[in-house]
Amino acid sequence: MNTLQHPKTTTRNFDLTAQQRNITIAGQNAELLTYNGSFPGPLLEVQEGDVVTVNFNNQLREPSNLHLHGIFMSPDEDKPHQTVEPGQSLTYNFEAHLGSAGMYWYHPHAHGKVTRQLFEGLSGPIIIRGAVDKLEPVASATEKVLVLHDIGLQNGEVASHTGMDWGKGKEGELVLVNGQNQPEMSAPTGLLRLRIVNASTARYYNLNIRGKRLQVIGMDGSFLEAPLAMERLLLTPGERADILIEATQEEELQLTNLPYSRTPAGSSADTPAEGMVLAKFSITGEPKTIALPTKLTHIPALDLASVTNYKTITFGATMQPLQFTINGKAFDHHRTDLTAKAETMEVWDIVNPMAMDHPFHLHTFPFQVISVNGVAVDFRAWKDVVNVPANSTVRIAIPFTTYKGSVMYHCHILEHEDLGMMGNLEVV
Ligand code: C2O
Ligand code: CU
Ligand code: CU
Repeated sequence: MNTLQHPKTTTRNFDLTAQQRNITIAGQNAELLTYNGSFPGPLLEVQEGDVVTVNFNNQLREPSNLHLHGIFMSPDEDKPHQTVEPGQSLTYNFEAHLGSAGMYWYHPHAHGKVTRQLFEGLSGPIIIRGAVDKLEPVASATEKVLVLHDIGLQNGEVASHTGMDWGKGKEGELVLVNGQNQPEMSAPTGLLRLRIVNASTARYYNLNIRGKRLQVIGMDGSFLEAPLAMERLLLTPGERADILIEATQEEELQLTNLPYSRTPAGSSADTPAEGMVLAKFSITGEPKTIALPTKLTHIPALDLASVTNYKTITFGATMQPLQFTINGKAFDHHRTDLTAKAETMEVWDIVNPMAMDHPFHLHTFPFQVISVNGVAVDFRAWKDVVNVPANSTVRIAIPFTTYKGSVMYHCHILEHEDLGMMGNLEVV
């Protein structure tokens, strides 16, 4: 029978050192920025209930810091305003809350330096495991963690940003999965579970596996209530997806990036029409019949009738100097842009009047996406990044908790973030 148990608290310590390293990518050597010498950085894996300490050491030649993207943790521990000087260390603490099982990631957050540090290699995945991971048939799936991170190389160095790159968001011509160009992986017949993070500074991925449905079971920091069958899935910078693939027989599957334009009015789809192969999976073994899970978790519908606080977040830009703005202002970390009250719920309209998409990200507090251009979203998930398409409005609902403090929200095209498309929310 069921016995109720207190989750056993385990303390987990991780050390992450940011350091320059010579790495071989697609046959070329290049000086990259790494965590612990690897690109991408190591997977940090914990269980719900764990008390986690991440000790960050900066061996770069410039200030950096660490942000644990999407983790529900105290703003005082997130501390993205605090930078770490070369040779210095800083520790980040969080408790992996019950119900926070999902995929997360880490990257630098030193304002003005984020784009280049990430583009040059600094990112890594985090997984919090929980009850759904133990649920059949999810538990028996073969799991692959895929970090999508594009990069450009030039004479043994990471290609620099041009003026245009800062406006549009730079896309590197090497589109890498776990630091490799079109890696080939193998898996037995059965369920294949792909846990994907878009760790690119600006590139969007429009994911597809020809001949298969993507059975999406999780997005960002949560599971969905039931698998959501999709033909293709748009994954914008910062977003994560947890996908089951029914691999019933021996075959080769190709994870493909189909064209998608972030600037729909422009011409700029740089992906060939048939798509670009990101990774291959060779499936071997006896044919299998596969059951998908039917019920994964419960995500409460939010009671929007009770909401009295509405906010509007409007994206914009100025030329000369080139700045990206929110509500007409470029980021200033001394300024509080918005305030909210702890333990209340708010509804925010993220308004994008521009001719290009922007992925909106909020620290600390997971939100639910309510509607896009007034059309209700027909599934529930706890998200921390949502794409706001060009000339569109996305409505989200944010239940604030007991956490108080200074919380950032920004565009996750990191060029835009570094150029000011970020604000400070003070939760009081
Ligand atoms: Cu992934 Cu404020 O960041
Ligand atoms: Cu974040
Ligand atoms: Cu943007």
